[in-house]
Amino acid sequence: MTRHLYVHLPFCAHRCGYCDFVTVVGRNSQHEAYVGAVLAELALERGVLASQLETVFLGGGTPTFTEPAALERLLAGLPGAEEVTVEANPETVTQDLARALRRLGVNRVSLGVQSFRPHLLAVLERVAQPDTVRRAFYHLRDAGFDNISFDLIYGIPDQSASDLEADLADALELGPEHLSCYELEAKPGTRFTHAHGAELARQADAMETSFELVVQTLTSAGYRWYETANFCRLTDGRDLRSRHNLAYWLGRDYLGLGIGAVSTVDGRRWRNTPRLPTYVAELTAGRLPGRELEPLSLDVRRRERVMLGLRLDEPLRVDGLGDVLDDAALERLQRLGLVDRTGRTLTLTARGRMLGGGVTADLLA
Ligand SMILES: C[S@@+](CC[C@H](N)C(=O)[O-])C[C@H]1O[C@@H](n2cnc3c(N)ncnc32)[C@H](O)[C@@H]1O
Ligand code: SF4
Repeated sequence: MTRHLYVHLPFCAHRCGYCDFVTVVGRNSQHEAYVGAVLAELALERGVLASQLETVFLGGGTPTFTEPAALERLLAGLPGAEEVTVEANPETVTQDLARALRRLGVNRVSLGVQSFRPHLLAVLERVAQPDTVRRAFYHLRDAGFDNISFDLIYGIPDQSASDLEADLADALELGPEHLSCYELEAKPGTRFTHAHGAELARQADAMETSFELVVQTLTSAGYRWYETANFCRLTDGRDLRSRHNLAYWLGRDYLGLGIGAVSTVDGRRWRNTPRLPTYVAELTAGRLPGRELEPLSLDVRRRERVMLGLRLDEPLRVDGLGDVLDDAALERLQRLGLVDRTGRTLTLTARGRMLGGGVTADLLA
């Protein structure tokens, strides 16, 4: 039975230049109908969910831009879980919103900070200013949230090493329980890539150094580097890793509701239509939305287990992975000090983790 539920809330106040997620700008009058459709999809899929869920994650888009009455109806209609996370853009987090989330059972908020430098926020076309982020953070703390995560981005056009150091210092000063630090990905052919081409190339050359700076700074500040891009505070014996994302990295099943949402259940994977009108119309008529099925052979699943599992700081069990590993490459990478093998488990060394995906790709036969 599936114990992890993702819900996609696609609405945003505006579209940031670098963003490639399934988003829809505005359409406030449609939020209520969309939530109705998501709840209808949940009712049709209820059978695949366990009676007690471990995690629910509301991602976007900007879930907290959803009309308050619709967001409230959604949260009230979803099953409870041990970890309930909502993604929030700082400018949407008022005292009222923070209290409402708490009242509706949310116990973790992931705040899209991206940067604390005004000139970099402008490059990213963000609405929030550094003080907006701080205010949002304190509203969440005041409402009782003791599990807050920040998303930061590095490799932003015009970002210097000292800008990145200052961003990390500003984040650490607030002391969130969790930090996700992503390399900026810019899709070829987008308006953003045209506008910043040369700077993006310069940033790409410096990416490895920036990544090292991120890891070095956050681990020195006492955060656990538990996944390639994710860090959590080590406090009071609490495990502050994102349980929802851990489920993906560990290859567990999850159900995704909403436009563009992906599900993996019992060896099948599908992706819902990204088209809002079609999605709402189908579910209003009582039918499942249009879906794209992705063939998921055992070989593909095993390769995915290696690629995702080696992003973690915990050993990956290799029994049951069949012949997807290249033994000669494994020996070579062990000799180079990039991979540790102990009995039936594999882990990337710190150096191996810095090189990341390249090492894992070499390991796969
Ligand atoms: C699904 S997005 C939505 C979050 C929220 N709407 C916001 O913008 O703050 C989750 C996170 O993905 C990251 N992200 C989005 N686009 C990215 C890109 N092109 N490259 C790297 N990270 C990106 C950002 O850090 C963002 O906070
Ligand atoms: S607010 Fe977040 S989801 Fe919306 S366009 Fe910007 S980055 Fe994308």
